[in-house]
Amino acid sequence: MYYYDPYGFRSFAQDQLIANIARAVNGQYTAIACYERLANMAPNQEEKEQILEIRNDEIRHFRTFSQIYASLTGRQPSYQIVEQCPSEYRAGLLFAFKDEQKTADFYQDIAEQASHPYIKEQFRRASADEQNHAVWFLYFLTGR
Ligand SMILES: [Fe+2]
Ligand SMILES: [Fe+2]
Repeated sequence: MYYYDPYGFRSFAQDQLIANIARAVNGQYTAIACYERLANMAPNQEEKEQILEIRNDEIRHFRTFSQIYASLTGRQPSYQIVEQCPSEYRAGLLFAFKDEQKTADFYQDIAEQASHPYIKEQFRRASADEQNHAVWFLYFLTGR
C-alpha cells in the first residue's frame, strides 16, 4: 500500500484527512496509556480483563492507523499524549465512555472523508469497536 505523493500535489482534502489520521493515532496512543491505568484500578479480575481486552483493540487500531499514516505521508507519525485521564476509577470509566462515543463518531467521519476503500474499511471497523467499548464502559458504570 503506497499512497504517498512524492511530488507534493497533495490536495487540501488530503491534508485534512492526514491531519485527522494523525489525531486518531494520538488518541489511540492516549487510550492505550489510560486503559492500562484503568485496568490496574479495576475492582475485580473480570472487569480488569475486559479493560485489557479493550486495550488490545486500541493497540491494534494504533498500529493500523500508524501504518496508514506512513503510507499517506512517507513518514512515521509522532506520538503524543493528548489528554490526561482521571486518576480515580469511576471518573476514569465515565471519561472512557464519553471518549469512546466521541471517537466512534470521529472515525465515521474519517471513513466518509477517505476515498481509498482500505482506509474507509479500517475506520469503519474501528468505529464499530469503539461503539462496543462504549457499551462495556457504560455497563461497568451502571451494571453493578
Ligand atoms: Fe480505538
Ligand atoms: Fe476504544
